[in-house]
Amino acid sequence: MTKPLSAYRPTIPLAGDITVPGDKSISHRALMFAGLAIGETRISGLLEGEDVLRTAAAMRALGAEVTRDAPGAWRVSGVGVGGLREPEDVLDMGNSGTAARLLAGLLASHPLFAVMTGDASLRRRPMRRVTEPLALCGAHFAARAGGRLPLAIEGAAEALPIEYRLPVASAQVKSAVLLAGLNARGATRVEEPVPTRDHSENMLRHFGATVTVEAAGSGRVITLAGQPELTASDIVVPGDPSSAAFPLVAALLVPGSRVTVRGVGLNPLRTGLFQTLHEMGAGLALANERVEGGEPVGDITATAGELIGVDVPPERAPSMIDEYPILAVAAATARGTTRMRGLAELRVKESDRLAATAALLAANGARVEIEGDDLLVHGAGAPPPGGGMVETHMDHRLAMSALVLGLAAAAPVRVDDTAFIETSFPGFIPLMTGLGACFA
Ligand code: S3P
Repeated sequence: MTKPLSAYRPTIPLAGDITVPGDKSISHRALMFAGLAIGETRISGLLEGEDVLRTAAAMRALGAEVTRDAPGAWRVSGVGVGGLREPEDVLDMGNSGTAARLLAGLLASHPLFAVMTGDASLRRRPMRRVTEPLALCGAHFAARAGGRLPLAIEGAAEALPIEYRLPVASAQVKSAVLLAGLNARGATRVEEPVPTRDHSENMLRHFGATVTVEAAGSGRVITLAGQPELTASDIVVPGDPSSAAFPLVAALLVPGSRVTVRGVGLNPLRTGLFQTLHEMGAGLALANERVEGGEPVGDITATAGELIGVDVPPERAPSMIDEYPILAVAAATARGTTRMRGLAELRVKESDRLAATAALLAANGARVEIEGDDLLVHGAGAPPPGGGMVETHMDHRLAMSALVLGLAAAAPVRVDDTAFIETSFPGFIPLMTGLGACFA
């Protein structure tokens, strides 16, 4: 069922002190890795968005015991590396590329047959980027034209370790290869051209695997020793910086606002947006920096103020890959042009986010251009006129970005469907309303 919604400029500033749901990347990994560990892992702060619930259901179907005790508090009893059982039915990964791609890695090195599908958005997304390297371990795949889901997987009985250089900077592809390597004899090596989020590496170590990381040119080489004994180990999931981005940018754009988000994950491979906003002159302050569950976290306070346009280099893209739509919204209110370089990967997200972000802004009177793989937003030093209808194409981050734009724009912004916000940020609407946002 679609859920259209309009966002209006509030009459009073946004204010409040909040937390956001758990990190999506870490939540998927926590369920998957704990599902392969021996013993019981307790997870707190797990994101209970639809994407992660799909991973929980898939891990159950593969033999792990997955129990929800209270909101965000889960227990997983794993089957041990190599112990996944053949699922009886098709695995439906919903809207989640991370769930589908990481799971393909796990399944590739287990001697079983599985079929994976997803919703219309996920069924459009490229899977060859994982099936090509994963075939090197001896797994067989059959997919629809263009390597798209549904995908049939015949895992390798005696998986070989993979050596692979990523052609694109993708933490999902890196993670899929490493996960296949868990049940391969010998060392799996992945080279990435630019460092991407390293939650898999950190969490595999946390469960007892041997993972080494070496610098190689502008990137890294990651080596995993195969067939480790993974041992259950409790996990605290930090707040998702990609979710915190929405209330924080809203606070920057609505005059007079001040909002604090507590317990936000600050892994340096995830904080490109905050660095960019800082360069734009945003009032962002960091407090209480600490390490929780092996990841750096802190409290971020955003205070409204003027922004200036900046040039965002392509090598920063992996550390803020999910944040370009909301950055583009901020850029539309800034003084001067913001050029976001090297965004080819945005074309294969939950939607073609490069085209859809440009359309979101253009529909609301902002000046925007796509030049090759770059997005240019010409900010007028004031919020854009608004008044447009935004098509979200089953993409949660476009829906939230459009709603934030509506809080700043002169006229309300209408959004065709906000239902997909549930995939990553359950409770977004009431949380924002609690800060003073106006939706109808
Ligand atoms: C993710 C990696 C990124 C990101 C996605 C989550 C992950 O995708 O866009 O939301 O958890 O590894 P890519 O690896 O395709 O860039």
